[in-house]
Amino acid sequence: MSIKYVAEPFRIRSVEPIRILSREEREAKIKQAKFNVFQLKSEDVYIDLLTDSGTNAMSVGQWAGIMSGDEAYAGASSYTKLEAAARDIFGYDYVQPVHQGRAAEKVLFPLLLCEGKFAISNMFFDTTRAHVELAGGRAIDCVVEEARNPGVRAKFKGNMDITRLEALINELGAENVGVVVMTITNNSAGGQPVSMQNMRDVALICKKYNIHLNLDAARYAENAYFIKRDEAGYEDKSIKDIVAEQFTYADTCTISSKKDGIVNMGGIVGVKDGSSELVPKVKANCISYEGFYSYGGLSGREMEALAIGLYEGIEEDYLRYRIGQMEYMASKLDENGVIYQAPVGGHGIFVDAKAMFPHIPYHEFPAQILALELYKEAGIRCCDIGSFMLGNDPDSGKQLESEFEFTRLAIPRRVYTQAHLDVVVDALVAIKDYASSIKRGYRITWEPEILRHFQAHLEPIV
Ligand code: F0G
Repeated sequence: MSIKYVAEPFRIRSVEPIRILSREEREAKIKQAKFNVFQLKSEDVYIDLLTDSGTNAMSVGQWAGIMSGDEAYAGASSYTKLEAAARDIFGYDYVQPVHQGRAAEKVLFPLLLCEGKFAISNMFFDTTRAHVELAGGRAIDCVVEEARNPGVRAKFKGNMDITRLEALINELGAENVGVVVMTITNNSAGGQPVSMQNMRDVALICKKYNIHLNLDAARYAENAYFIKRDEAGYEDKSIKDIVAEQFTYADTCTISSKKDGIVNMGGIVGVKDGSSELVPKVKANCISYEGFYSYGGLSGREMEALAIGLYEGIEEDYLRYRIGQMEYMASKLDENGVIYQAPVGGHGIFVDAKAMFPHIPYHEFPAQILALELYKEAGIRCCDIGSFMLGNDPDSGKQLESEFEFTRLAIPRRVYTQAHLDVVVDALVAIKDYASSIKRGYRITWEPEILRHFQAHLEPIV
């Protein structure tokens, strides 16, 4: 049965026209883009679900904040405001603004990792994995078994596999593990939440072995909403309290504020203990890479908008509507037999392209096929989170086989309406009906060495 759409807890005051090209035009544009959705122009896209990152609509309050940003090089009042908001919500002593999440990783990870060290996560996002490797480390994913089965519904499929984590630490030697990273929500596993119990268990293990725990908290508010909805004992707690508890378990956090901070640009490195020796080192790296530590790569107006967005992102009405959008789409896909990572996560639908194209091998990139079909079918842009994104083994250079072949339809915050979501569902159902007629996938004709999916050229195999 379909779930009722939760009406927007806002009205729309400013609009941005979009248009749809004809099928012939779309086919020509995607060919020109070398069958890589990142090479498409935004004006040629009808509904853009490439990412929920930095694609958010800001509120009137945030736009008003933009006008009062303090652009001083040092000690801007907008920094003080951001620091106060972030301390209030996350409870960390030191708040370092940076321009986005990967900048936070670039500032923090070289302080924790070096050649020969390991980083273990419930699952690394691709840029996070890249920054582990750039710092000389090796990244290991350690997600629970349930996550590997998209069709099987389980709560908190984003959790760390605790037994395996401890076994890995013993196998590698605790002294060789530079950092454990808890990613909330677990983006690569489908925006799946992590339970508070799991965070507590991971923190205990890190304490036992004296290993640094970092929270990769791009979607901490969506994670908190799931904890309130699904974890015993949290039903009556406020989102703000749940968010704060999540942060108590880690030593540091890296945040891409382009997600739950509801801004277009921004990020944070947080250090829980202000007297930690990490603080001056974070400041020093920030000055080298990002800018002086009271702005860290952001303008005053961006810090002002973020300080306001941090509060809007934890409003319960907003989160009910936001997660409601995912639940609405998921219920329509259930009715039509489209398989996705279920139950649906916090920031999009991760369609199981392996289930839609069971006859296509991983090295012909089933999730990329579906992404390209969605553009051709309805002008929708989304991306592969599968073998195409995973790339080649850094040692052997061979194509790796991803555990998942997901096509991710990420939903920007406060941007698309129910009717847009219906267009997306209809397109997915139409493609499912002709999926068996697509016999072959794509091959790569050119690729860069790192993060190849952004730039690679592809061609259809005929
Ligand atoms: N960590 C997670 C879990 C992320 O999802 C992202 C970005 C980052 C770190 C890096 O942040 O983009 O601000 O530098 N995810 C985006 C996405 C790009 O589309 O999922 P960033």
